[in-house]
Amino acid sequence: MNSKKFKSLDLFAGIGGIRTGFEQAGFQTVFANDFDAYCKATYDLNFNNILLKVCDVAKIKSEELPDFDILLAGFPCQPFSIAGYRRGFLDTGRGDLFFEILRIVKDKKPQVVFLENVKNLKSHDKGRTFKIISDALSDLGYYIKVDVLNSAEYGNVPQNRERVYIVGFKSENAYNNFKFPEKVKLKKNIADVLEGKVDEKYYYNNSLMYEKLREGVKSINTIYQWRRTYVRENKSGVCPTLTANMGMGGHNVPLIKDKKGIRKLTPRECARFQGFPDSFRFPTNLADTKLYKQIGNSVTVTVIKSVADQIMKAIES
Ligand SMILES: C[S@@+](CC[C@H](N)C(=O)[O-])C[C@H]1O[C@@H](n2cnc3c(N)ncnc32)[C@H](O)[C@@H]1O
Repeated sequence: MNSKKFKSLDLFAGIGGIRTGFEQAGFQTVFANDFDAYCKATYDLNFNNILLKVCDVAKIKSEELPDFDILLAGFPCQPFSIAGYRRGFLDTGRGDLFFEILRIVKDKKPQVVFLENVKNLKSHDKGRTFKIISDALSDLGYYIKVDVLNSAEYGNVPQNRERVYIVGFKSENAYNNFKFPEKVKLKKNIADVLEGKVDEKYYYNNSLMYEKLREGVKSINTIYQWRRTYVRENKSGVCPTLTANMGMGGHNVPLIKDKKGIRKLTPRECARFQGFPDSFRFPTNLADTKLYKQIGNSVTVTVIKSVADQIMKAIES
C-alpha cells in the first residue's frame, strides 16, 4: 500500500460502522459528526482520536472542516423537492440532508464521495430522489458508480441486508479503475454468530408472550421475527435485515430458540450480524433499546471494508 493515508470525513456517523470499515482499509478519519448524543457514547468509546462532534449537520461550516480526500455518509433517506433543487439546492432552506452533503462536497471538493443508503433509495419517489442525487454529483464533476450489495453475499455475514452504495470520483481515471467487490462465499452460519452464554433478561421464558411465541418459534438456529402480533419464520437460513426499531418490543424483534428457551438476539449478536469485530465496544450504561437502534441503523462493516479496499485501489493506481 502507498504510504500516503487518505483522509476521510465521517458524516451521519452513527456509531462509526462506516468509519470502522474504511479504517480497516487504511483510511484515516479526520472529522466525524452526528446529532445523536447516544451515538457519541458508543462512538467515542471506540475511537479515541477523532471524537464525534454532536450537532446538526446544517450547522457545520465548510471552512471549519479539515481537508479530506473522501466524504463518507450513510444518510437518512428523505424525499427531496425537485422544484427546490432547481431553485438552487443551497437555498431550499428545508434542511434536506443530502443537500447538506452536497454543500460540503461543493466547498471542499474531495477526490471521492461514498454514500450508503437503503436499497429503496433507487426507487424512492418514482426514481426522482436518486436522479437528483446522481445529477447533482455529476454537476459537481463527479463520475459515479452505483451498486446494490447484499451483506450475505458480499460481507460473509449471515444477514440478508441489501443496501445501495454510491461512489463518486473526481478523477476519471480513478472512476475507470474502480470496480465494486466480487461476491464472497458465505462461510458463517447463524450458529457461528450466537453467544455461548446469554443473560436471562433476553429470554421470554417467563413472560406473558411465551405461549404465543412457542407456537411460532420451533426450530433452533433459525431467526424468527416478532411482527407486532405474530411470529414470522425466516426460511433462508440467514438473519433478516436488522432494523433500527428492532429493540422497541413491538416490531421486527429478532428471535431465536436455544437450549434454554426463546429469546431475543443480544446486542453483541446483532453487532456480529453486522460484521463488527468483537473488539468494538458498547457502553454498559446505555439501555439495550438504544444499542439495538444504533446497530440496526449502522452498516455491515465487512461489506464497507470490501468497498473501501476497492476505492483505495482505484485512487492509488
Ligand atoms: C442510517 S444512520 C447512519 C449510521 C452510520 N453510518 C453507522 O455506521 O453507524 C443515520 C444517522 O444520521 C444521523 N442524523 C440524522 N439527521 C441528522 C442531522 N440533521 N445532523 C446530523 N446527524 C443526523 C442520525 O442520528 C443517525 O445516526
